Amino acid sequence: MIRLFGVSKGYPSRGPVLRRLDLHVARGEYLIICGASGAGKTTLMRIVTAAERPDAGQVMVAGRNLAKLKRSAIPYLRRNIGVIFQDFKLLGGSTVTENVALPLRICGIHGRTLRDRVEEVLELVGLEDKPFARCEELSGGEQQRVALARALASEPVILLADEPTGNLDPEATAQVLGLLDLARDRGLTVVLATHDPQVIGAGQADRVLEMTEGKLETRALRSGVWLERPEEPDTRGEREMSLIL
Ligand SMILES: Nc1ncnc2c1ncn2[C@@H]1O[C@H](COP(=O)(O)OP(=O)(O)O)[C@@H](O)[C@H]1O
Ligand SMILES: [Mg+2]
Repeated sequence: MIRLFGVSKGYPSRGPVLRRLDLHVARGEYLIICGASGAGKTTLMRIVTAAERPDAGQVMVAGRNLAKLKRSAIPYLRRNIGVIFQDFKLLGGSTVTENVALPLRICGIHGRTLRDRVEEVLELVGLEDKPFARCEELSGGEQQRVALARALASEPVILLADEPTGNLDPEATAQVLGLLDLARDRGLTVVLATHDPQVIGAGQADRVLEMTEGKLETRALRSGVWLERPEEPDTRGEREMSLIL
């Protein structure tokens, strides 16, 4: 569903952030990317949503080669990708329903279909009793669930969660992680970025990769202990790369 081949990205003021990074996230997989603050997790996510262009390398998302994507096709790509952030990024002064409905309206969905879809995702995240609450009146956990409902409303195939529990208490964190598990159970490909070891242990991710020095290394967690495992050589990636170029 997501493939990166030799992706490098840096900033003049910072130097290299991602260094010839390879990544393959399979359809329906739930992947956690951990790493210290500043390691490059957000940069990686922004490359997947085409908010940033890599300096080198190739990126395939949902079957599209991002280097060949026209600017006008980016909104179509983003409909396939739901994103949630640490700071929720909700529309201030608006209700729960207005927040969830907005991306649907932009996609040209109106009327009964819109109402049904909003109702469905609010029920999914457990906010069906607060459709007309103003977002500012909600707790952090509730606000993140609104953001998740909004991300899921346009029925994306990929869900990117960038430090989604960074501002939440343990109970709200558990709720949001439970919803990410649910998203994966519904067939979405889920990528969660976090620097929080508790989040890494709590979720039901298939795989944990750690970002260090601009690369991703496989990590496995067994009974709360990190095990290091060398990355399996992925020669299939090289074959597919030659098909893309
Ligand atoms: N637009 C930018 N301009 C300059 N430096 C940036 C920019 N975006 C990120 N960085 C730098 O790149 C590094 C990685 O940032 P980021 O991807 O946000 O890391 P993480 O999400 O793992 O905390 C940091 O040192 C950050 O300061
Ligand atoms: Mg970040």
